[in-house]
Amino acid sequence: MKLNNTTAKTLKKDFPIFKNNPGLIYLDSAATSQRPKSVIQAVTDFYEKENANISRGLYTLAAKATEKYENARKVVAHFIGAEKNEVIFTKNTTESINLLSYTISSILPKGKNEILLTEMEHHSNIVPWQQLAKRENMKLRFVKIKQDFTLDINDLKNKLSDKTAIVAFTYVSNVLGMINNVKEIVKLAKQAGALTIIDAAQSVQSLPFNVKEIGCDFLAFSSHKMLGPMGIGVLYGKKELLEKMRPFNFGGGMIKKVTLEDAEWADAPQRFEAGTQNIAEAIGLAEAIRYIEKIGIENISNWEKELLKYTLSRLKEAPGIKIYNPGANNSVSIVSFNLKGIHPHDVAELLNNDGIAIRAGHHCAMPLMEALSVNGVCRASLYIYNTFEDVDALASALKKITEKFNR
Ligand SMILES: Cc1ncc(COP(=O)(O)O)c(C=O)c1O
Repeated sequence: MKLNNTTAKTLKKDFPIFKNNPGLIYLDSAATSQRPKSVIQAVTDFYEKENANISRGLYTLAAKATEKYENARKVVAHFIGAEKNEVIFTKNTTESINLLSYTISSILPKGKNEILLTEMEHHSNIVPWQQLAKRENMKLRFVKIKQDFTLDINDLKNKLSDKTAIVAFTYVSNVLGMINNVKEIVKLAKQAGALTIIDAAQSVQSLPFNVKEIGCDFLAFSSHKMLGPMGIGVLYGKKELLEKMRPFNFGGGMIKKVTLEDAEWADAPQRFEAGTQNIAEAIGLAEAIRYIEKIGIENISNWEKELLKYTLSRLKEAPGIKIYNPGANNSVSIVSFNLKGIHPHDVAELLNNDGIAIRAGHHCAMPLMEALSVNGVCRASLYIYNTFEDVDALASALKKITEKFNR
C-alpha cells in the first residue's frame, strides 16, 4: 500500500491508542511504536484460546502453542532473509547484545583484541562491550562522526586493523536518524577479519534489510519499536557461528542431556532460549511483521522520507533552532533539535501541554551528546501513522514556545 497523508490517516485508525487518547500527537516512535489492533488481538487470542507452554506438552493445545511460536520464528527469519534456526528470541535489543557479549569469547578471532564501535551508539551497544573488554582485557575504539552528522568512514578505515576483533555499530542512529552504509562497513570489517554486529533497533521498522545480502555475522532488534509487543526481541546469528558459541542462560529448554554432574547443550537456537519464553509476544511480533509486510517496507521507507522532508522544512522556521540531522537522503524520520536558550526538558514539557509527545534528554547516547557538545536534545520521531498535520502542530507549538521565551 502506497503511503501518503490520506492513507496515513486511514492507517491511524488501526491503532486503538489514538482513539483512546483523542488529540494525542505521538512523536516518540523511536522510543516505542504504537501497536495496531491486529497485534494486540494476536496476543490476547493466544492467552484466551491457545495458552500452553511450548516444546514439552504432548497434548493438542501445547502442540499448537509450539507450532505458533516456531511459526513466529519462521516469519521473523523470512523478514530479515535468515534461516529459521538463525533466529534467537530474546527480551529486546539490549538483551540480544548482552547475550552476544557473554557468549562471543569462544568465536573471537585469534590474536585480535580490539572492539570497534562508533560515537553514535546507544548505550546498549556500548556498555556490554565495555564489560567484555574488561573481562577479556580488550581495547575499545570509537569511529568519529562528522560535522554533517554522518559517520566518518575514513576514520573507520584508519581504526580498522589486524587487531580488530569486533565491529559493532548501529544501522540507524536513534538521535541523528543517520542511516549508516551497512554494506560498506561490513565489507571493510570483513576485510580486516573482524566479526560484524549490527544494532538494527531503529532500522528494521523503516528500511529493507537482508542479512545474507549484507553479510553481517549478527543482528539485534526489538519488537516494540516495530509495532510488536514489548518483552520480545531478536538476535540473528550465522548458523556456523551460533553452533560454536556457549549458552547464555542455563536451565530447562536449552539442553540435549543432563546428568548430575554435567549437561550437553541443545543446538541453536534452543541453546540460547533457556526457560519459558515470551510465547504470546513472539506471536504478536509475527503479526506486527505481517502488518508491516502488508504495507511494504519500501512504502514505509518512502513515507518516512516524505515526512522527514516536511518536518525538516517546517522546523527550520522556528527561530534559534539547531537541527541535528544529516538530511532526508541519509536519515529515517527521526529529527533531533534544540531551541536556543531553552532546556530540552522545558520544550518537551511545554509541547506536552499541547498534547504533543516528544522525547528530550540524552537518549541513552551520552558519548554522542559529548561529541555534539550538548547535555541533551529534543527528539521528534515519526512513523507510519504520523501525518503532515502532526508536523504542523509541532511546528506551531515550537513557534509559540520560542515567542514565549524570547518575549
Ligand atoms: C539504536 C538503539 N539500540 C538499542 C536500543 C535498545 O533497545 P531496547 O531498549 O528495546 O533494548 C535502542 C532503544 O532506543 C536504540 O535506539
